[in-house]
Amino acid sequence: MCGIIGYVGPGPATPQILSGLQRLDYRGYDSAGLVVLDHGRIRVEKMPGKLEHLLDHLKKMPEMNGCVGLGHTRWATHGGPTQRNAHPHLSHRASVAVVHNGIIENHETLRRRLRARGYRFASETDTEVIAHLIEDLYRGNPLEAVRRAVNLLEGSFAIGVLFRDHPDVLIGARLNSPLLVGLGDGANYLASDAPAVLPFTRRVAYLEERELAEIRPGGVRVIDAEGRERPVRPIQIKWDFASAAKEGYPHFMLKEVFEQPRALRDTIRGRTNRQDLHFPELDIPARRLKAARRLVIVACGTAAHAGMVAKYAFEELARIPTEVCFASEFRYGDPVIGRDTLAIAVTQSGETMDTLCAIREAKARGALTLAVCNVVGATIPRACDGVVYTHAGPEIGVASTKAYTTQIAVLELLAVRLARLRGTLSRAEARPLLRAMEGVPLAVQEALECDGHVKRLARRYSRCRNFMYIGRRYNFPNAYEGALKLKELSYIHAEGYGGGEMKHGPLALVDDTFPTVAVAVRGRAYDKILSNMKEIEARGGILIAIANPRDARVKALARHVIEVPETAEMVSPMVTAVPLQLLAYHIAVALGRDVDKPRNLAKAVTVE
Ligand code: G6P
Repeated sequence: MCGIIGYVGPGPATPQILSGLQRLDYRGYDSAGLVVLDHGRIRVEKMPGKLEHLLDHLKKMPEMNGCVGLGHTRWATHGGPTQRNAHPHLSHRASVAVVHNGIIENHETLRRRLRARGYRFASETDTEVIAHLIEDLYRGNPLEAVRRAVNLLEGSFAIGVLFRDHPDVLIGARLNSPLLVGLGDGANYLASDAPAVLPFTRRVAYLEERELAEIRPGGVRVIDAEGRERPVRPIQIKWDFASAAKEGYPHFMLKEVFEQPRALRDTIRGRTNRQDLHFPELDIPARRLKAARRLVIVACGTAAHAGMVAKYAFEELARIPTEVCFASEFRYGDPVIGRDTLAIAVTQSGETMDTLCAIREAKARGALTLAVCNVVGATIPRACDGVVYTHAGPEIGVASTKAYTTQIAVLELLAVRLARLRGTLSRAEARPLLRAMEGVPLAVQEALECDGHVKRLARRYSRCRNFMYIGRRYNFPNAYEGALKLKELSYIHAEGYGGGEMKHGPLALVDDTFPTVAVAVRGRAYDKILSNMKEIEARGGILIAIANPRDARVKALARHVIEVPETAEMVSPMVTAVPLQLLAYHIAVALGRDVDKPRNLAKAVTVE
């Protein structure tokens, strides 16, 4: 989730690029940089951290003159948030500059190949591979060089490319990441999304998958991956800046809920190949992981719920005793930790103080420590022996959504990895699990189709004062998560329970005004959750069930059924999380709450 802006026209490029970058910081703030073709020489300036650092830096530098250039705000995925890793990246002979949003999954193979041809790498990024590759394939035609290069790339990318020898051309290309061309008056633009170009033009043309654009001051040409001409289809942007940043969604939270198929794809793809698992950034030796006899997961809030889901996978697949602790409590107990303990900190921001203190405590007591984190180079991954990143992209809404589902994905992939290392799961047994994991982005995409139905239910029940959420096994933590989402967004009291616990107290709450949301998808405890629902139905409670399609047994019990696709039980919490998130969202909207910034809460809690 990086931001890209490019300009080619008669006027100076720098002010236009900086103005575009100012409207792209919600796409990443790990570093900012720009490149301008200044009197025949490619000039790059870039700084780690927020855009202000770059602006301060530029004040001290000679002016960057030139009529063609590119800018970038970075959300780090490969390589820490350092100056060296900031974009733009230059090719070996400084003839090509590239900015990129996305993940190149085969960058290691390409890097090896380019190294063998004498290319030297200055950064740890996957992006630098693209710059070298284009330079390697360049024979005088920029569009053709980029076309041949992108045909070798796997993964997701939106790129902007500038050539030293072509002062009036920018090239753009995309696959699985958005990219658009802004059509101005005698000047044209390239951007990752509309807010970057809105002050300059409202006429934009979105590139389709695998399309490339050649952008000159006087016009734009689009071709496909085979080099065939494609029509340029401009549309008129009618939204204002704020809604453009949200890509037309009324809130960041809703945008992030809908981004989950992409976030999950980026997190899962490249790590599974149906045969095995790869965690390129994890530099803990396999023998140390294998030596762990106990697992302790420390986290707060939603991240702790992801840990609770993963406990089932770690125990079931890897047969390793797993404890999940709220980080705030962990350090004030007297945790039994030793050299045979693997402690995992799960955190979106990588900055939550309680989680940081807990993982430091575990480390001090001899544990091997691992972070599962969404922010590259954040404090918690730096404090740990190893890290695996979720590739959810920046999460702006305070209520965590895409970070949650991607955390579950990474943790469950780790469980499969650990199980393989420990010999508790054969390759043949792992294969269907990995296939199920690869199917999750599509299942989540389909689950999102429940949005309209959930919205109607939300309107109907938004005046209820209390809600109950129940689930079993892998979906038990989703009962907590569903209740947490509702509490934090709508300020309605909600509780999550394991369905089997209802009869030990909470059942007393049930009457005909009391809604219970039951996660009742098929799995090992399916019959059990149905019995729990029966107990509620018998007492006149209002049951809203999340179930698989055509489930007559659920339909017979529940007043409302929200259908989600059937998946393997292990991966189902990522799918059932979708209606839970949407229900909380729509109830909060119906009540007029500030969805992206609920009262009293903060996105990253850096105090104890
Ligand atoms: C805050 C956020 C939650 C998040 C929790 C842990 O309370 O509002 O959404 O789950 O912190 O944050 P982390 O960044 O460590 O995942």
